[in-house]
Amino acid sequence: MDISRGELLQLRDVVQGYCGIRLEESKLEFLKDRLIPVARAHGATTMSSFSQMLLREMAFGTPKAWNDLLPLVTINETYFFRELNQLELFRNELVPEIVKRKANRTLRILSAPCSSGEEPYTIAMLLDEASVSLAGWTVEIWGVDIDGPVIQKAQTALYPRSAFRATDGKYLSKYFTQEGDFYRAGNRLAGRVKFKHGNLFEMARWPGFSAFDVIFCRNLLIYFDKATQKRLIEVFHKAMVPGGYLLIGHSESLLSMEVDFMLKSNKQAIYYEAQTTSGSLRNV
Ligand SMILES: C[S@@+](CC[C@H](N)C(=O)[O-])C[C@H]1O[C@@H](n2cnc3c(N)ncnc32)[C@H](O)[C@@H]1O
Repeated sequence: MDISRGELLQLRDVVQGYCGIRLEESKLEFLKDRLIPVARAHGATTMSSFSQMLLREMAFGTPKAWNDLLPLVTINETYFFRELNQLELFRNELVPEIVKRKANRTLRILSAPCSSGEEPYTIAMLLDEASVSLAGWTVEIWGVDIDGPVIQKAQTALYPRSAFRATDGKYLSKYFTQEGDFYRAGNRLAGRVKFKHGNLFEMARWPGFSAFDVIFCRNLLIYFDKATQKRLIEVFHKAMVPGGYLLIGHSESLLSMEVDFMLKSNKQAIYYEAQTTSGSLRNV
């Protein structure tokens, strides 16, 4: 199967329209040889007919070809305790603040995207080690990712040593058991995080994906253009409680974006607070 530049650009636009990821032309060129067997496996004879198939799947909500294509285009890099300053801010300041002000004793946290699960499991460990007691609280931690194989890894909860490159050894011995060269999340951790395989742009349609107190959306916005970033931030806003907290990656920013979040910071890190009123992002 020959693929023209026009067909590659068409595929790039279809991918961006579905999941937000903006692929560079150089990456598409690099992927060419891997795209062809995926297209063929779904019965497409040209890349253009494969793009049409992907568009039809978007319309009818049966993402079979998407499930095979997405692992080629996503970047799943992650590890436990990534961007520690922000995690400490979460544990030491945001969680105690929520515990102080929330009467209904529910704490709902979303890690989106979660890749292979290191981030939501880190959140579960941090909650365990928080200075405030969550006894009597209903705590829910969700991890979501569009890439099926990484969600399966998250559910298996078996990790190589490299996943712990930023992890204090005390967590490894307390929460994981060694299996050969790998480490498996023990009972204390596994089962405390629920996972969902899905496209975050469709989150508004998922039952129960609302009223989150904290949303971690780290290291995803960098793959989106500004308009797509704004679209996703609006999805998150609708899924949060007023005054909920949004944490994005260190290299990401909502600066000059008109969204209903207020930028806040402590000495360690920045975060965003969901506002109830419409308006542009305000700095404090
Ligand atoms: C670099 S990882 C970030 C993982 C983690 N938040 C962290 O910071 O370590 C980015 C993930 O975003 C996922 N992703 C990309 N577009 C998505 C979408 N529209 N919906 C859900 N997940 C998406 C990819 O599959 C990938 O696993």
